[in-house]
Amino acid sequence: MKPTCRKQQRTMCAQYCISLADVEKAHVNIRDFIHLTPVLTSSILNQGTGRNLFFKCELFQKTGSFKFRGALNAIRGLIRTTSEGKKPKAVVTHSSGNHGQALTYAAKLEGIPAYIVVPQTAPKCKKLAIQAYGASIAYSEQSDESREKVTKRIIEETEGIMVHPNQEPAVIAGQGTIVLEVLNQVPLVDAVVVPVGGGGMVAGIAITVKALRPSVKVYAAEPLNADDCYQSKMKGELTPNPYPPETIADGVKSSIGFNTWPIIRDLVDDVFTVTEDEIKHATQLVWERMKLLIEPTAGVGVAAVLSQRFQTVSPEVKNICIVLSGGNVDLTSLTWVKQAETPAPHPSVSV
Ligand SMILES: Cc1ncc(COP(=O)(O)O)c(C=O)c1O
Repeated sequence: MKPTCRKQQRTMCAQYCISLADVEKAHVNIRDFIHLTPVLTSSILNQGTGRNLFFKCELFQKTGSFKFRGALNAIRGLIRTTSEGKKPKAVVTHSSGNHGQALTYAAKLEGIPAYIVVPQTAPKCKKLAIQAYGASIAYSEQSDESREKVTKRIIEETEGIMVHPNQEPAVIAGQGTIVLEVLNQVPLVDAVVVPVGGGGMVAGIAITVKALRPSVKVYAAEPLNADDCYQSKMKGELTPNPYPPETIADGVKSSIGFNTWPIIRDLVDDVFTVTEDEIKHATQLVWERMKLLIEPTAGVGVAAVLSQRFQTVSPEVKNICIVLSGGNVDLTSLTWVKQAETPAPHPSVSV
């Protein structure tokens, strides 16, 4: 079911956790504190895909990923909604890294202590960055169960407020602000491609796009090894990953959830899955051709557009914006670079 007009969209919003108005409010809340990230192009990648690609560079966002948008919107909302505008005693979250970093920095701006639950296996650079921003880290095992248990304990001990990385409505609304910018920066955009983990980013973007420009397609991209979004769309019901996924794209290991699923079910046009080799290839391609230090999770969207299945998308979908969602790469873990098939150098090509 797709909305065909703004009025219809408004009616449909009743069933979702956020509306366009929440995204617009979020933009007012955060726009003076975030970077208006650039949109870059690459002629070699245009040639390779036969489309006009536009890369929304959220790797240049504060804290190195789009996550700062949602985190800051949530923190500012918390302060307004607490009695007499009092600050919460602490904020708590669990995160493989980027949301943890973003929440810590946003909390610091407002003078609120942050406690972050991180799996032991999270990339070292992300853990160090969270600590550098001033948060206290609590370690959990990789399983959802262990993560929930540790998070609950920390909330009790600190009397803190949980800010969920992707199901919190204020976070989802904050992520939607990415595409408010894109619609201005690329007025002729035909489609937006978004890596999906818990689905906060793609849900915020879908709500916004389908309200303002319903003809623009919203495509989710995810690793084949963590394909809960694809499975959910295929089965028509929320179908989380059955076990912790193994993927180089560590930012999208989490499954979509109760708040993001209805939005994804109704407003996301398609989901493209990509293999680990495709993610590695796409990530390296962006490093080498565009000189942009994206993290592999951000390479998932690029891999989707380079994939064979994407060629079945109508040629009328010409102008495609790919969200390069983050740039927090653990450089010491790049052993896989040697194994990936590096495309032959092409000295005469301009970027
Ligand atoms: C770099 C990056 N891209 C994409 C995502 C996916 O975002 P979401 O969980 O909102 O789907 C994440 C989540 O952590 C991320 O860190």
